[in-house]
Amino acid sequence: MDHYKKTLIYFFSGTGNARRIASWFSEFAETKKIECQTFDLSKISPPKKEEIDPSALIVFISPIHGFNYPKITLDFIINFPKGNNHVVLMNTRAGMKIGNWVTPGLTGIAFLFSALILKIKGYKIDGLIPFDMPSNWISIHPSLNDNTVRFLHLKNHEKVQRHAAKIFSYGKDFVALKDIIQDLLISPVSIGYFLIGRFLFAKSFYASPACNNCESCIKNCPVNAIKSLQGRPYWTFDCESCMKCMNTCPHNAIETAHGLFLMTGILSAPVFGFLSTHFIDLGISEFFQNIVSTVFFLIVLWGLYHIQHRMLVNGKLGTIITAFSLTHFKKWGRYKSIPDSKWKNGTEI
Ligand SMILES: Cc1cc2nc3c(=O)[nH]c(=O)nc-3n(C[C@H](O)[C@H](O)[C@H](O)COP(=O)(O)O)c2cc1C
Ligand code: SF4
Ligand code: SF4
Repeated sequence: MDHYKKTLIYFFSGTGNARRIASWFSEFAETKKIECQTFDLSKISPPKKEEIDPSALIVFISPIHGFNYPKITLDFIINFPKGNNHVVLMNTRAGMKIGNWVTPGLTGIAFLFSALILKIKGYKIDGLIPFDMPSNWISIHPSLNDNTVRFLHLKNHEKVQRHAAKIFSYGKDFVALKDIIQDLLISPVSIGYFLIGRFLFAKSFYASPACNNCESCIKNCPVNAIKSLQGRPYWTFDCESCMKCMNTCPHNAIETAHGLFLMTGILSAPVFGFLSTHFIDLGISEFFQNIVSTVFFLIVLWGLYHIQHRMLVNGKLGTIITAFSLTHFKKWGRYKSIPDSKWKNGTEI
């Protein structure tokens, strides 16, 4: 017997994976005659308590960024009203393919932290389910090939059917708890990413000379993190590195600033070493010294990012800067979740 009459799905998605899981879950609900409403949480404010049907199942789906949900999802959950509905938390992680095996990503503290917040608000947590969709972090690795992308879509579609059947029949599915040890072990990195790492990655994007200033990235960023400075897109620290802009720019003009990071490392390490040995007696443990040096790296990066932005106005300098970005090589590619028609209907895998 089905458990729920209505489902409310709140999702965030940079490159379409979480959106795809939301739509597959919603399709499954419809086959069971369960009314399902889907909301892109980047386009709405958290609902008011009285707007939520107390008998509805609530589902949150979001990618994992730095072993946690991204800030936009965490903010939405933190500002969600109190209630006592049943809730299922889902995520999309960085899946890859080895043979016929899907290699799993890492959830980190995303489920534990969000489940705790929702529990404190009065909700009943009925499931924690990760989905290993294609990794979209093409700043650090080339995009996955078409075969792998199709394979991962097919496998995750099957997985949604299994877990949705379980949720709608029995109501409970805590498959993510089998990873709890590794998720807890990685928790210091989750916190480091949230406090510092995400600001470093916010400065990893820039628009190459191929940019024609169409402003599509500025208009479509889910957190309004790109502004126009000197007539060119400029990435602020608000960027959540969701990868939407980079993967949807119509001119493939958004690159990862590998050269800038290399230059920042070359300049900041010796300067920080010199300052801390000769002028500043930090008198703190190695752990805190590492934090201070990372903050110093971030400050140097911010300064150099500004300089790079000015240099990019000049076409010739822009071409030289772009040559130092691995993402510039055609084979590196871009990633966007593919429509169902590309892997369904007998498409060869
Ligand atoms: C900045 C960034 C950080 C990421 N961190 C993780 C991570 O910690 N663990 C993981 O499994 N995947 C990680 N990923 C991969 C994405 O979570 C994964 O590809 C997800 O399916 C993307 O979903 P979307 O298309 O809905 O945005 C990261 C991706 C980016 C861009
Ligand atoms: S979407 Fe691409 S071409 Fe358009 S402004 Fe942004 S970087 Fe430039
Ligand atoms: S600037 Fe790009 S990567 Fe950053 S949050 Fe906006 S769309 Fe996502």
